Amino acid sequence: MKRSYYCGEVTAAKVGETVTLMGWVHRRRDHGGLIFVDLRDREGIVQVLFGPEHGADAYENAKRVRPEYVVAVTGQVRRRPPGTENVHLKTGEVEVPVTHAVIYNEARTPVFPLDEERPVSEELRLTYRYLDLRRPLLQGNLRIRHRTYQVVRAFFDRHGFIEVETPVLTRATPEGARDYLVPARIYPGHFFALPQSPQLFKQLLMVAGLDRYFQVVKCFRDEDLRADRQPEFTQIDVEMSFVDREDVLALMEELIALLFREVKGVTLDRPFPRLPYHEAVARYGLDHPDIRFDMFLVDISDVCQGTTFRPFADALAGGGQVKGIKVKGKAEAFSRKVIDELIEFVKGFGAKGLTPFRMTRKGLESPVAKFFDPGALQGVIRRFELEEGDLVLAIGDSPRGVAETLGRLRVKLGHELGLVEETLIRPVWITDFPLVEYSEEEKRYVAVHHPFTAPQEEDRGKPPGEMRANAYDLVINGQEVGGGSIRNHNLQDQQKMFDVLGFTPEEAREQFGFLLDALEFGAPPHGGIAFGFDRLIMLLTGAESIRDVIAFPKTQRAQCLMTGAPAAVDPRQLKELRLKPDVS
Ligand code: AMO
Repeated sequence: MKRSYYCGEVTAAKVGETVTLMGWVHRRRDHGGLIFVDLRDREGIVQVLFGPEHGADAYENAKRVRPEYVVAVTGQVRRRPPGTENVHLKTGEVEVPVTHAVIYNEARTPVFPLDEERPVSEELRLTYRYLDLRRPLLQGNLRIRHRTYQVVRAFFDRHGFIEVETPVLTRATPEGARDYLVPARIYPGHFFALPQSPQLFKQLLMVAGLDRYFQVVKCFRDEDLRADRQPEFTQIDVEMSFVDREDVLALMEELIALLFREVKGVTLDRPFPRLPYHEAVARYGLDHPDIRFDMFLVDISDVCQGTTFRPFADALAGGGQVKGIKVKGKAEAFSRKVIDELIEFVKGFGAKGLTPFRMTRKGLESPVAKFFDPGALQGVIRRFELEEGDLVLAIGDSPRGVAETLGRLRVKLGHELGLVEETLIRPVWITDFPLVEYSEEEKRYVAVHHPFTAPQEEDRGKPPGEMRANAYDLVINGQEVGGGSIRNHNLQDQQKMFDVLGFTPEEAREQFGFLLDALEFGAPPHGGIAFGFDRLIMLLTGAESIRDVIAFPKTQRAQCLMTGAPAAVDPRQLKELRLKPDVS
């Protein structure tokens, strides 16, 4: 038998044609003497029917079939009897009485039903991923992913970029996330690392004179996972020579706008707005702000200066801040119980508490009002421009603590209170990141983006902690979807950066000698960016979990439930590698 159409293609235009269709039994209904089967393939579902008068052998076969059996059928397409059409199906006007049928394969009863959209545990879905992938939602996501690859590749090709594959077995990098290591059998005690990104290779391609490079590339990071993170994920990686920040941003905006238009049919306003890092953190609390709604963080540190409320007074005495957000009209709706739940939420981010102030007819009320003099309470009212019924939720902590907690609380409330227009797509460039920040844990400066990012020209010569990086992130709807920078292209600048990061010249040479060498052989000015491809696909599909846009994803605990990876290996393999696991 030879397939003539996909099931989903058998529309009214095919009436009268004899067709052969192949696919999975989606649903089977036995009407005694007549068996209806919804036959499914990747393009859709069509109703076929079996009766002794159409094909006696086929009818006998149909008695045996069960959901998810794989079959082929032949028959002449006809209109369904009036009144039995299904307007929800492309093929809903027709049916195919089967004259001939073949059962290619039987199937065990599916571990979860595929003919209804019922919530199924993710564990089950991931263990039987090939069944999960039979569902139209996930197939749709993979198709959008496919379409995006095509648009991306065509775009870069049109703009003179060359796609180059960089190594997957490479050197461990001390900066950044934890590496996945691969033991090298013939060099006992030595390891390859899987790349966290092709950063250095793409810079070396610029030194090599490729001028414009891109790659759709897998990256690997052994870090704590969240809804938008996977241990192996895909980047659209880009590098360009003889460019400045504006060149990179302009072209990348064009790409992002094209993707949303071509793949999602959404036109984005351009140019994308820009927000300096400090302003993003001050107003939104996060360096990846969701700018679809306001509810800005408001600083009331000065207003609270004289308070005897210990959490605020202690925070301010320790160089911290007091800030709050206004929740319009929720003074009453947010009962004590609701506030207690929010306190639990903020404690998850290390905050000690959350203090409510309610604007009532009688004035500003709060369980801690007695610790504030009337002038301070008036100050709060003015600063937030409070009206009767408004609620303020305030936190006193270190600037970082305040920003992080209120930033997350703002996003949570934005969604829960319907302040976020969920279908809107709002990109924003975050610029002017600090070049380095001091790590209390490591007792040294660490790069905010990565050690190869150049400082801004006008900040050269300033103390390290005051320099701004020539770096940029693209944030869409509160998700960091890309990040990049202009790089150090001369040796002295790169050495200075390693010095700031506390590397001795020997350590820098030991770990990055190949880069330092290359910078001495005529490195052009260059810069680039990398987009998180999976995160882009989440936005293009509307998926809530990164796992819904990856064919075979890992769990939040970095396992593949289907194959059982990671798994113990044969002791002989370990012996060959001269490894002894310490599983104590
Ligand atoms: P960065 O580390 O910012 O930059 O990564 C670029 C983008 O990759 C995505 N991303 C992830 N997506 C899914 N799971 C993860 N675990 C994960 N980690 C990162 C994010 C992020 O914005 N070499 C530099 C780029 C450059 O400077 O050109 C880099 O990798 O969307």
